[in-house]
Amino acid sequence: MIDYTEKIPNNVDLGRDRVLQRALEHWQPAYLSWWYDMGPNESHNFEVYLRTATSVEPDGWAQFDYVKMPEYRWGIFLQPRDEKRQVNFGMHKGQPAWQDVPGEYRSILRRIVVTQGDTEPASVEQQKMLGLSCPSLYDLRNIFQVNVEEGRHLWAMVYLLHRYFGRDGREEAESLLARRSGDTDNPRILGAFNEPTPDWLAFYMFTFFTDRDGKFQLCALAESGFDPLARTCRFMLTEEAHHMFVGESGVSRIIQRTCEVMKENKVDAPSDVRSLGVIDLQTIQRYLNFHYSVTLDLYGSDVSSNAANYYTSGLKGRFRETKLEDDHTLQDAVYPVSEVVGDKINTKQVPALTALNERLRDDYIEEIQAGVNRWQRVIDEAGIPFRLTLPHKGFHREIGNFTGHFISLDGKILTEEQWKAHEFEWLPSPDDYKYVQSLMSGRVAEIGKFANWIAPPVKGINGKPLDFQYVRFN
Ligand SMILES: [Fe+2]
Ligand SMILES: [Fe+2]
Repeated sequence: MIDYTEKIPNNVDLGRDRVLQRALEHWQPAYLSWWYDMGPNESHNFEVYLRTATSVEPDGWAQFDYVKMPEYRWGIFLQPRDEKRQVNFGMHKGQPAWQDVPGEYRSILRRIVVTQGDTEPASVEQQKMLGLSCPSLYDLRNIFQVNVEEGRHLWAMVYLLHRYFGRDGREEAESLLARRSGDTDNPRILGAFNEPTPDWLAFYMFTFFTDRDGKFQLCALAESGFDPLARTCRFMLTEEAHHMFVGESGVSRIIQRTCEVMKENKVDAPSDVRSLGVIDLQTIQRYLNFHYSVTLDLYGSDVSSNAANYYTSGLKGRFRETKLEDDHTLQDAVYPVSEVVGDKINTKQVPALTALNERLRDDYIEEIQAGVNRWQRVIDEAGIPFRLTLPHKGFHREIGNFTGHFISLDGKILTEEQWKAHEFEWLPSPDDYKYVQSLMSGRVAEIGKFANWIAPPVKGINGKPLDFQYVRFN
């Protein structure tokens, strides 16, 4: 018999709940077998310098040591309970926060937890092969850190399913291990989580753009009136910050390296830049366009009665809900959304309650823009006249009001034919992917060494130097 209370670090008093323990005893081997199959390829014997959360205290959630990843202690942590916490928005505003699932919201809440939970293993699956072509031990360690934490986020959601949703929850927890990213028969729930992540530029873009969608969804759920969900999401956010750092700094280091090589060799044509073994800025822009547009779809329809229901019921709030100064019921408020009418994109005011997806998407875009501005600074400081831009919101969208329209990067409505004529100016072409992958044909595993196409980071992990052995291959 495994002592699960010891094996699974937790602050939810696992040892006291027999039903829950039995459910997890059943689920854990299935999880490990999923990890063996779908976790990072060929990594089972590696010892990785990882951060493991052993408590939610500041000194407990960032313990660093060498760990074999299958032995990582995937723990269950909720932010401590605030006895006075209330439902802070919607029609139940002012009631004590729920410690149990309100019967009438059971199925919506389960759906929310499952949808969030499904993204966690999906990204591990998407990144499975990347360890084989890492640009350094530092980066290899970072992707593994992201992977084990996405695994922990799955545990976090599975805990909620097992603890609060009975038999249905247990079945959902099994399905979370059965779906596969990109599978035609049993795909992951959301589109962006079925796209391949074929190379490291795509990985950094993914962690910058798509993990940040994760952050915004978690922030909205961290406001939930269902207290265990709110407390779970609050702790997940501490880990999400590192994932976005990996993405932002990764892209930034690629840009920096490209700019250095362009300056040293006085070249700027993409083909010349490529001949020097770095990624041209135009290709970086196309990757950005792709990841931005598929991630915008994750927020859902611009106008959505589901979003209104989630809010009115007190289940999913707005970004920083409790810091916003309004009535937190949005009965009379309006919000602008875009709409394609004929050959124009119009803005119209709709009830704010129905536009909550769009609002969260707008909050996200603001933060993304700030990050892109930081990348731009790297280019500016090198004195290179190239501008990185965010595409128009309607570009390359498959969900919401822009679906079925062919919008250019700068927001013009085109015919399908016109759009297609520009497709590979705007989005990565098969040739772009081939080129980027050609740079990443093997693993750079020498201590302190970095691939030619990426600059070293400013500093190492947890105060360690860059020439530290972040991964031992054994
Ligand atoms: Fe996550
Ligand atoms: Fe993440």
